[in-house]
Amino acid sequence: MGFTTVLILTFLLFIGYTLVNGSTPKHYIIYMGDHSHPNTESVIRANHEILASVTGSLSDAKATALHHYSKSFRGFSAMITSDQANKLAEYDSVVSVFESKMSKLHTTHSWDFLRLGIVYNSNHIAMDSTSNVIVGVIDSGVWPESESFSDYGIGSVPEKFKGECVTGDNFTLANCNNKIIGARFYSKGFEAESGPLEDVVGKVFFRSARDSDGHGTHTASTIAGSIVVNASLFGIAKGTARGGAPSARLSIYKACWFGFCSDADVLSAMDDAIHDGVDILSLSLGPNPPQPNYFEDAVSVGAFHAFQKGILVSASAGNSVFPRTACNVAPWILTVAASTLDREFSSNIYLGNSKVLKGFSLNPIKMEHSHGLIHGSSAAASGVSATNASFCKNNTLDPTLINGKIVICTIENFTDKRQEKSIIVKQGGGVGMILIDHNAKEVGFQFVIPSTLIGQDAVEELEAYINTDKNPIAKIYPTITVVGTKPAPEAAAFSSMGPNIITPDIIKPDITGPGLNILAAWSPVATEATVEQRSVDYNIISGTSMSCPHISAVAAIIKSYHPTWSPAAIMSAIMTTATVIDNTNHLIGRDPNGTQTTPFDYGSGHINPLASLNPGLVYDFDSQDALDFLCSNGASPSQLKNITGELTQCQKSPTPSYNFNYPSIGVSNLNGSLSVYRTVTYYGQEPAVYVASVENPSGVSVKVTPVGLKFSKTGQRLTFRIDLIPFKNSNGNFVFGALTWKNGRQNVRSPIGVNVVSI
Ligand SMILES: *[C@@H]1O[C@H](CO)[C@@H](O)[C@H](O)[C@H]1NC(C)=O
Ligand SMILES: *[C@@H]1O[C@H](CO)[C@@H](O)[C@H](O)[C@H]1NC(C)=O
Ligand SMILES: *[C@@H]1O[C@H](CO)[C@@H](O)[C@H](O)[C@H]1NC(C)=O
Ligand SMILES: *[C@@H]1O[C@H](CO)[C@@H](O)[C@H](O)[C@H]1NC(C)=O
Ligand SMILES: *[C@@H]1O[C@H](CO)[C@@H](O)[C@H](O)[C@H]1NC(C)=O
Ligand SMILES: *[C@@H]1O[C@H](CO)[C@@H](O)[C@H](O)[C@H]1NC(C)=O
Ligand SMILES: *[C@@H]1O[C@H](CO)[C@@H](O)[C@H](O)[C@H]1NC(C)=O
Ligand SMILES: *[C@@H]1O[C@H](CO)[C@@H](O)[C@H](O)[C@H]1NC(C)=O
Repeated sequence: MGFTTVLILTFLLFIGYTLVNGSTPKHYIIYMGDHSHPNTESVIRANHEILASVTGSLSDAKATALHHYSKSFRGFSAMITSDQANKLAEYDSVVSVFESKMSKLHTTHSWDFLRLGIVYNSNHIAMDSTSNVIVGVIDSGVWPESESFSDYGIGSVPEKFKGECVTGDNFTLANCNNKIIGARFYSKGFEAESGPLEDVVGKVFFRSARDSDGHGTHTASTIAGSIVVNASLFGIAKGTARGGAPSARLSIYKACWFGFCSDADVLSAMDDAIHDGVDILSLSLGPNPPQPNYFEDAVSVGAFHAFQKGILVSASAGNSVFPRTACNVAPWILTVAASTLDREFSSNIYLGNSKVLKGFSLNPIKMEHSHGLIHGSSAAASGVSATNASFCKNNTLDPTLINGKIVICTIENFTDKRQEKSIIVKQGGGVGMILIDHNAKEVGFQFVIPSTLIGQDAVEELEAYINTDKNPIAKIYPTITVVGTKPAPEAAAFSSMGPNIITPDIIKPDITGPGLNILAAWSPVATEATVEQRSVDYNIISGTSMSCPHISAVAAIIKSYHPTWSPAAIMSAIMTTATVIDNTNHLIGRDPNGTQTTPFDYGSGHINPLASLNPGLVYDFDSQDALDFLCSNGASPSQLKNITGELTQCQKSPTPSYNFNYPSIGVSNLNGSLSVYRTVTYYGQEPAVYVASVENPSGVSVKVTPVGLKFSKTGQRLTFRIDLIPFKNSNGNFVFGALTWKNGRQNVRSPIGVNVVSI
C-alpha cells in the first residue's frame, strides 16, 4: 500500500481525463525525516549516493531521481523497481518508502452570506489587516492577469517570505506581484506516473504555474482575491467578487494537472511551502475513498510537519456523497465539508398550458420560442431500450425524433456527466434539455443548449401535462439569480461524510462552508466546462474544493488578528463558534430533501467568521499531543517514525484517545460510563465566568464538572471533566449531543459523538 492518488475535489467537473497506469519501474517516495545537512546541494548529493547503491551507478541514480525534499524534511522520489525500493527501505536513514499515486482536485455572494462585511466593518479590523498573512495554495496554478490578483494598494512583500517566483511557459517574473508573491510548479511526479504532459491529447497546459484548468485560479481568488466590481458568469450571480482576506498574500504551488495531483509533487510543494514561510496552507484535493492511514499518506505526513512549524492546513473532505468517505481526516488537519448558500440559479420551464415549473441551471441562452417536448425514452434509436435512451447517452437517441425538440433526460448515476448529455442531444438536433436529477438539481451546471435540472414536484407536473396534451410544448428561460432563499445553509448533497474511518474518536469533517455554486476567478483558456465552450474570466463551480478556500480565508483573518496562535487554536476558534442552525432557525438539513443531519455532515457546524475572531475559550494542542493521540490508538514507534521522520517513542501510558484536547468530543467505543477531560485557555480581557450547557445524546446522560469555569486573566487554563453515562446501547451507530460553555456573550460549542457499545 503506498501513498494514494490525490484528485481535485470539484464536483463532476474534472473527470474528462483518464489516467494511464505506468508499468514497472514505479514512482516511489523515499522519506527520510528531519536532517542536519547544511544545504540543499548536500542533501541532493547524499540522496544520489544512497540511490546509486541500489541503481548501480551515480549516473543511473541521477537519471532516476525526480524530486529532492531538502527544506522542511529530507527525502527524494525516484523511478525504481519494487526490489530497489525494498532495498532502500532497509537503510537506517530511510524512514519509509511509499509508492506515489494520484489525488484529485476536489465560489461572491458567499462572503455576504457569511456576513464578512461585518467582520471588516467592526471597529477592530481594517481591510488591509491580513496583508501580513501568506496563504499557500497547492492546486492547478493561477491565471495571474485576472483582475482578482491585482495588487493595487497592497504593500511590499513581507520580509519573512522566503519563496520564489519560478518562471516557465507564459509565466515571467512580471507575473508575480505584491498579491501573488510566490509561484512554483511540480510535474515530475505526474509525468513519471502517467506520461509526459505533451501526450495528453486535446488539453491545453502550461509548463509553469500558469493555470489552464481554472480550479487553482478559483480557489486562490476565493481566499485572497482583490475586490472586483461587476463580476459575473454571463451576467449570472453578478456582483462584487472578492476573496475572504482580500489583502492577504498568495504563494502558488501548482502540483495538479488536468484534475490530478501526484502525491510526490504535492509533498514537494508542502516541503517548499513550509520553508517559504506560509502561514496557512489550503489544499482542495484528496484521494478517492478510502483514505489510507496517516502513516502511508503524503498529505498527512506533509501536514504534520506544517502543523509542527505552526502552519494550519485546511483541506477539503471530498465529494463522495456517502458515510465513511471523508478524506484528509488527520487531527492536525482542518477538514472542510461543503454546504449551500441562500442563493439559487433558477432556469424555469414555461409549459404550453402556461404553468411554470421550477428548474435550476447556469443557462444564459435565451430560447425565443416554445418547442415540442419529447422523452428520451420515446426517442430510442433502433435496437436501444427505452430505459437506456432515457439517460440520453451517446448513440441511444433517434435524431429524426428529437430534431428541433426539447428532450427530457434522466440521471442514471450521481456521477453522470451532465454536460455531455446536452452535447449528445445537440448532436442529434435537439434544441433544449430538461434533466430529471433529484439529488443534484441545485448544483449549477453549464450546458451547450438551453437546459435545466428538475426534481420530484416539477416532474409530476411535467408528466401530468405531457400525458394530457397531444402536442406538448415548452420554453426554457435563461437563469435568474435569486438570493435570500430558505432554508440555508444545507449540507451539500455531494459532500463527503464521516465517521472518520482511521481514528473514529475524532469527529470528521470539522467544519462546513459555502461550496455550492461559487463564483470566483477562472482561467480564460479553461473553456471545457462552460456554456458553448466559451472563454470566461469568472466561473461558477461546486465542491468541497470551493468550501475549503472559504475556511482557509477565515483562518488567515484569525491568524492576522492573533499572530501568535497555534494552528490548533485557530482550528478551535473556527470550530467552537460554528453554528448548526439555518436561516429558518432549524437544525441544518441535508440537500436535496432537507433530511436530518449529524456532525458527520458538517462537524462542529457552519462557519461564523465574526464569532471565530473572539472565541473566548480555546482548546489547544501541539504536535506532541497529536503523537500521544496516535500512541493511544496503538501506533508503534516505527509508525510514528513514518510521520515525524525521527525515532519517536510512546509514553508508558499515553493519554487516552478520548482525552486528546480536540475541540469536538468523540468516543467511538463507549463501554459503560466514562470520564473525559478537556482543557480550555481563556482569551478574553476581563475576568469572566462560563457556564456549561449540555445537549444529551440519545441514551446518554452527560454531566460536566465543574459546571462553571471562572477566569481572572487572559491565558489562564482550566481543566474540566465530562462524565458520559450511557443507559441505552446505540446499536453500532453514533448518537450526538453537545457541550456549550456560555458567558452571556460567547457560546463555545463542542459537538459530542458517542457510539455506545455497552451500558
Ligand atoms: C504563450 O506564449 C506563446 C509564445 O510566446 C504565445 O504564442 C501564446 O499565445 C501564449 N499563450 C497565452 C495563452 O498567452
Ligand atoms: C457590467 O458588466 C456587464 C457585462 O456583464 C456590462 O454590460 C456592464 O456595462 C458592466 N457595468 C459596469 C458598471 O461596468
Ligand atoms: C442498455 O445499456 C446497458 C449498459 O450500457 C447495456 O448492457 C445493454 O445492452 C443496453 N440494452 C439495450 C437494449 O440497449
Ligand atoms: C458520440 O459518438 C460519436 C460516434 O459514434 C462521436 O463522433 C461523438 O463525438 C460522440 N459524442 C459524444 C458527446 O461523446
Ligand atoms: C455509478 O457510478 C459508480 C461510481 O462511479 C460506478 O461504480 C457504477 O458502475 C455506476 N453505475 C452505472 C450504472 O453506471
Ligand atoms: C430525495 O427525494 C427524491 C424524490 O422523492 C428521491 O428520488 C431521492 O432519492 C431523494 N434523495 C435522497 C438523497 O434522499
Ligand atoms: C511506513 O510506511 C511504509 C510505506 O512504505 C509502510 O510500508 C510501512 O508499513 C509503514 N510502517 C509502519 C510501521 O506502518
Ligand atoms: C466492555 O467491557 C467489558 C469489561 O472490560 C468487556 O468484558 C466487554 O467485552 C466490553 N464490551 C464491548 C462491547 O467491548
